[in-house]
Amino acid sequence: MKILHMVLDGHEVGQLIQDRHGATRVLTPPIDGAPRISIAFTPSDTPVKPALTRAYLAGLLPDNADVREAIAGRLGVSSESQFALIAKIGADCPGAIQFLDEAQLAGERSGRLVPISDAGIAARLKRLRAGQRDWGVPGEHWSLGGAQSKIALRREGGQWHQAEGLQATSHIIKPGIARFRSQALVEHVSLRALGHLGLSVAGSEFVYFDDEPAVVVERFDRIADDDGSLRRVHQEDLCQSTSTLPTNKYTVKAEDVVRVLRGGGATEGGVLEFVRACIANWVLAAPDAHAKNYSVFLGPAGVEALAPLYDVSTGLGYRDSSQLAMGFGGEKDIHKVTGRHLLAFARAVGVDGGDVLASAHEMASLMPMAFAVAMDGTPIDRSDDQAWLSETLERLATHCAHVLTMLERTR
Ligand SMILES: Nc1ncnc2c1ncn2[C@@H]1O[C@H](COP(=O)(O)OP(=O)(O)OP(=O)(O)O)[C@@H](O)[C@H]1O
Ligand SMILES: [Mg+2]
Repeated sequence: MKILHMVLDGHEVGQLIQDRHGATRVLTPPIDGAPRISIAFTPSDTPVKPALTRAYLAGLLPDNADVREAIAGRLGVSSESQFALIAKIGADCPGAIQFLDEAQLAGERSGRLVPISDAGIAARLKRLRAGQRDWGVPGEHWSLGGAQSKIALRREGGQWHQAEGLQATSHIIKPGIARFRSQALVEHVSLRALGHLGLSVAGSEFVYFDDEPAVVVERFDRIADDDGSLRRVHQEDLCQSTSTLPTNKYTVKAEDVVRVLRGGGATEGGVLEFVRACIANWVLAAPDAHAKNYSVFLGPAGVEALAPLYDVSTGLGYRDSSQLAMGFGGEKDIHKVTGRHLLAFARAVGVDGGDVLASAHEMASLMPMAFAVAMDGTPIDRSDDQAWLSETLERLATHCAHVLTMLERTR
């Protein structure tokens, strides 16, 4: 039998156990005051059934099998074994959870922060853009989900570092989706636009590391303590909350999410935030708001709040981007959603239909301006990036005008 200790904020809260047949179980006994690890399974003195924890564990690792294979290959373990991968890269995960062996638990191999220059980051981004599947480098032990290439680093006093051993990462850096023009830039400006509309969004910047463009996202599951150390804050994504494997991330409906949020202890304010986020994704014509692109902060009683929005990008101008990940009232086509669909959606999730229409109307009226302000606030070095963004703004203005007419159709 092999054991990994599950640690939250410096306290052991459970164990990941692999028996001699390779079967993996999670044991998380009830502990007063400890945050729920996931709302998909309850704390218990007996190990949780693997069926209930598989999606939670899968959600800690990269979505794509070839990425997991490349990382496992470098580390000399089988990519088929969640336990083996988590043992190697589970020291810094989404949320506060850490999976540590005996020596790590005893504080050995705590690791260093190794400075990395902009040129060093550019070289890593260039390799990812060129198709390298392995996101990490020797010494790092972080893991993140998602399908797109990314690296996680620690920024301290303006200097970037690779976080080795048990050190926490503070930022996620993504080169953007290579087949979509200027996508890292569009993601940053989209996020900022939603922020200008009053939605809670992850902090982001658009940066050229030497010549390599990237969106730099601040981790909201890390906060600096007064003494300067970085604390981990617990969160899980909505695939994990709904026990959905990452491969099925597009199958989760907004109605399912709302049911699970309410069952998991979310307030009505939290539910409304999620509803507003769904509307914002439609108004922005963002096709990728699936269940792994929303997260919740977890406390002892379950869901404490919806996490800030992340990984939001308008799909206007990009191919195959006309379907919403979560539709309204059965309609997923971004151009076909009407006021009637929104009202059906409001009824299904038990919120006020008039408020939903008013929110959508307000967002569609203000979105182009919010996007323009976000553009103006972004230093853009290259004329081709600037040109694409200006075209995107024109498409967005047209789309929002269309949304306003569709909202009139309430029957
Ligand atoms: N700002 C953030 N703070 C904390 N965790 C984050 C943040 N942004 C993303 N994450 C976590 O990292 C995961 C991957 O990030 P992200 O969604 O940006 O990647 P992606 O590969 O572009 O995703 P997708 O497969 O949806 O395109 C998320 O599912 C979430 O768990
Ligand atoms: Mg994502």
